[in-house]
Amino acid sequence: MNHFYIKDNRLYAENFLVEDLVKEFGSPLYLYSKNQILRNYREINQPLVSSKLDFINCYAIKANSNPEILKLLSEEGAGAEVASGGELYLALKFGYLRNKITFTGVGKTDEEIEYALRENIFNFTVESLQEIQVISEIAHNLGVIARISIRVNPDIDAKTHPYITTGMKENKFGIDSKDILEVFRTSSKLPNIDVIGIHSHIGSQITEVNPYIEAVKYLGDLIEKVEKMGIHISYLNFGGGFGVKYKNVLSHRYIPLEDDSETGYASLGEHVESVIKLLSSYNKKLVIEPGRSLVANAGVLVGKVLYIKQGELKKFVITDTGMNDLMRPCLYQAYHQVVPLNLKDTGFETVDIVGPVCETSDFLAVKRSIQKLERGDRFAVMTTGAYGYSLSSNYNARLRPAEVLVDGDKYHLIREREKVEELHY
Ligand SMILES: Cc1ncc(COP(=O)(O)O)c(C=O)c1O
Repeated sequence: MNHFYIKDNRLYAENFLVEDLVKEFGSPLYLYSKNQILRNYREINQPLVSSKLDFINCYAIKANSNPEILKLLSEEGAGAEVASGGELYLALKFGYLRNKITFTGVGKTDEEIEYALRENIFNFTVESLQEIQVISEIAHNLGVIARISIRVNPDIDAKTHPYITTGMKENKFGIDSKDILEVFRTSSKLPNIDVIGIHSHIGSQITEVNPYIEAVKYLGDLIEKVEKMGIHISYLNFGGGFGVKYKNVLSHRYIPLEDDSETGYASLGEHVESVIKLLSSYNKKLVIEPGRSLVANAGVLVGKVLYIKQGELKKFVITDTGMNDLMRPCLYQAYHQVVPLNLKDTGFETVDIVGPVCETSDFLAVKRSIQKLERGDRFAVMTTGAYGYSLSSNYNARLRPAEVLVDGDKYHLIREREKVEELHY
C-alpha cells in the first residue's frame, strides 16, 4: 500500500491525518512520507544488488533537494547526480561520497568546473567538445586529471512530454551521434582527461520500458565502436527518467476515475529488470540517475479553497496554492490528481482548480471532475514530491510553503515556511 492512503473518507500520510498536520503547519504545505522514499529507493536498488552488477545509484537531486531528504538517501548509500555548483555543494554538505557524485549539465561555468575538480568528484558528464577542452585546461592548471563520461544524444523518442524529452536531435543535450566517435577520439588525446564512461539520459517520466531497451542497446553498440578505437570504457550511465503514476493514484467511490488509458505503465521494478538483463552481457559498471521515481509519489502539496467563482463558461475553484509552489502543470501541462482531504458524497462537477498568481497559466487542474468544493475545504495535489518544491519560486513575492516529513508515528518540520523578511535578501 502507498504511504498516502484514504481511511474513513479521510486522507492519511503514514500514521497521520493530513488535516491534522495542515492545521498545525498551515497551508500551503508540502508533506512527504519517509517510508515511501525508502521503499522507492529499495525497489530500484534491490534488483541491482541481486544482479551482482557493479553499480552506482546516483539520486538526481534536482528532483527534491530538501536537506533531510538528501540526508535520508545518502544514509541509504545513494550517490548524487548534480546539475550545478549549488547542487554539488548540497550533495557534499549532506553526506554524499565524492566517489559517487556525478556532475551533469550543458552549461557548467569555469568556476563550477574548478570547484568540482578541487573536490575530486567521481565524474563529469560532458555535453560538448568545447566543454571537454575547457575541463582539460582547468584540470591542467590545477594539476589534476578529470574523469569524464561523454553524453550522447541517441535520437530516441522517450515518448514523453516534449519539454522533458532530452535524447532527440532537436534537444540541446548530449553530442549528436554523427559526431560522437570523433569526440571520443579527440577527448582521449587531451591531457588531463580520462574518458571513463558513456552517458545518455533520453528524458523524464518514461512509462514504457522500450525506449530504455533501445537506449541501452544503442549505448552497447557505441561502446563496441569506441573500444575498437582503443579507448576503454568502464562505465555505462543511462541516466534517470523512470516514470511514475500520476493518475488514479488514489481510488475511492467519491473520487472520479481518471482516464489513464493513453500510456502503458511499467513499474519501477520492471524498468530496472529490463535493463539488467541487457547489461549483464556488457561487463561494464552501471550508473543510474533516478530522480522523480524516488520522491514523486512520496510527496503531496496541500492547499485550501479560498473562493468559488462561477464564470460564464467555467466554474473556478480558487486556491491558496498555484504555479509558484507547483510549476509542473503550467510548465508541462502536467497532470496531478487532486484529492479533497475529506471525501464527501456530493456528486461530481467539472471545474478549473486555479491558484492566486496573476497569470492565466496559473492552474493546478483544468476541466477537472471532482466533488463539490467549498470555501475552506482542503485538498492534496498528489505526486508532487519531485520537481515540486525544487521548481518553486517567489513570483508575486509569494512565500514558499513549509515542508514536513512524516515517518510512521513521528513527523518533523524539515523546512520552515518562508517569511516576508526573507524576500528582501
Ligand atoms: C542527466 C539527468 N539525469 C537524471 C535526471 C533525472 O530524471 P528523472 O527525475 O526523470 O529520473 C535528469 C532529469 O532531468 C537528468 O537531466
